[in-house]
Amino acid sequence: MSDLMRFGVSLEKNLLRDFDRLIGGKQYANRSEAIRDLIRNSLVEDEWKKGKDVAGAISLVYDHHKRELMDLIVDIQHNYQDMIIASQHAHLDHHNCLEVVIVRGKSDRIKLLADKLKAIKGVKHGSLTLTTLGAGL
Ligand code: NI
Repeated sequence: MSDLMRFGVSLEKNLLRDFDRLIGGKQYANRSEAIRDLIRNSLVEDEWKKGKDVAGAISLVYDHHKRELMDLIVDIQHNYQDMIIASQHAHLDHHNCLEVVIVRGKSDRIKLLADKLKAIKGVKHGSLTLTTLGAGL
């Protein structure tokens, strides 16, 4: 771990009260850890905005009985295989599948891949979780 630095923060009483209530509900042990996470979230958001190398997870829920849908999902993944680290398929019930595609690469390309997969007709829900490669955080 890098050297810890301390700094003071001044803010309105009401804001601090609301913040404490918020972090209490999120299981943080103290304000410092909660503030560290907020800062890291902002830095990760900035990595994505600036088109840097990042990591992410694309989740898709779909009905596997629609064969052309599955073919399309696989075809698109093959077109972006240089970015795909792994994918995991889980059978939720008789009809529905959950596929999670773990990706790394330039944020713009990851967003494009996620948008293409989510836009496939028949995908019931798709989401992109934005995260970081972790270097420097
Ligand atoms: Ni399945």
